[in-house]
Amino acid sequence: SQSHFGLIGLGVMGENLVLNAERNGFSSVVYNRTYAKTEEFLNGRGQGRNIQGATDLQDFVGKLERPRRILMMVKAGPAVDAVVDQISPYLEEGDLLIDGGNSDYHDTERRVKELESKSFGFIGMGVSGGAKGALEGPSMMPGGTKASYDAIESLVNKMAAQVDDGPCVTYIGPGGSGHLVKTVHNGIEYGIEQILAEGYDLMKRVKGMNGEQMADVLAQWNATEELSSYLVEITEVCLRTKDPEDGADLVEKIMDQAGQKGTGLWTVVTALQMGASVPTIYASLNGRVMSSLKPERVAAESILKGPVIKDFDLGTPDDAMAPLMDATVLSCIASYAQGMELLRIASRDLDYSLQMPSIAQIWKGGCIIRARLLQRIQDAFAANPDLTNLMLDPWFADQINRRLPGLAKVVAGAAESGIPVPCFSSTLDYINSYRTGRLPQNLVQAMRDCFGSHTYQRVDKEGAFHTEWLG
Ligand code: 6PG
Repeated sequence: SQSHFGLIGLGVMGENLVLNAERNGFSSVVYNRTYAKTEEFLNGRGQGRNIQGATDLQDFVGKLERPRRILMMVKAGPAVDAVVDQISPYLEEGDLLIDGGNSDYHDTERRVKELESKSFGFIGMGVSGGAKGALEGPSMMPGGTKASYDAIESLVNKMAAQVDDGPCVTYIGPGGSGHLVKTVHNGIEYGIEQILAEGYDLMKRVKGMNGEQMADVLAQWNATEELSSYLVEITEVCLRTKDPEDGADLVEKIMDQAGQKGTGLWTVVTALQMGASVPTIYASLNGRVMSSLKPERVAAESILKGPVIKDFDLGTPDDAMAPLMDATVLSCIASYAQGMELLRIASRDLDYSLQMPSIAQIWKGGCIIRARLLQRIQDAFAANPDLTNLMLDPWFADQINRRLPGLAKVVAGAAESGIPVPCFSSTLDYINSYRTGRLPQNLVQAMRDCFGSHTYQRVDKEGAFHTEWLG
């Protein structure tokens, strides 16, 4: 009999998503490039389920009811185009392909145009939540034509994580908007990961705290409205975990080099191209780049002498490390503010009509950056759809006004001890720049006009002015 839903690519995400769809009442057919993997799945996790296998793409397409709904979970990049090319000859008008990988939104933009021109639907859908989320309910960010979205709405509504005000999925917008939103989600993810790593480094190196003690602080943070989140929760777990070999903190055995697969970089590149300011997110990306220079850093350690580490006020476990919590909260707020700001600018430039409250809503459950703070973000944009920057919302402004001294104290102390805190310090500069009515770029303009006659505007009269600075 014919299935409701098709999946291509039996990686861990693909397997879990198809099990999720089937559990929600969508009989499924699966295809994998190597059939052995399909068999293994059907005889293993897929056994006893309403899931059938297909040996080739023609067989796969033939086993699907029309209009076909096909989710591709293959590696982002050329593999997506290859699958699209291979399956297209078998598709019929109205059939719909969904790319659930972390694709570059430019690619998705192109694929939507190409496929729609052949009367097939194409949805570029960000899927967040890792393996567990895929199985139990991810957050999903689908973009493409509204008609294509309507054809998958019942499916994704059931598959998604559910929060108090609905499923964690919504129609994002046209073209590559779903993948753009997922990319920015990941940029925020990079930011928060680095922020928590900086806090860990300070607790360890300045206060000499061990994994258990730090985990206890994270547990306290996770009980607050400002920091309660999935990433804080798993950081506590990571810090508490011991190496079974000797019972020591496992995290200390891990090489200090963080990898990346592209989305964080794309967030920053897109922001720079569109003129959006995302310094906290950039700092987290650069943190990974610096981390990869391991041999150079080890060599430089004995050549470039910094100050010795001095004890400074990071708070105590009794006050949940108050100044450090201030730095952490404000840096997380900055990451969200910068991500949302980038989305606002991208929406304007690309004509995506992104709905900020809905984006915050679907990030409240299922995804990696889910956090209680997202309710505040949703409320802020719902109350003021024209909000230019999240930091201007009264609740967030109050957080910043209360916590800025703590952040400054942490950054100053880290600087005097020679400990890098790229996200904390970038956040401090970001907030201080944003709240400075007059910045020193008047002097930059003067220099530009001096050597290049680029002209300048004046504060006291209208027009473009030039001075013969060098006589
Ligand atoms: C998610 C994650 C996931 C992604 C990596 C990307 O939302 O579930 O974002 O989709 O693969 O976490 O990050 P890296 O570049 O660090 O691999």
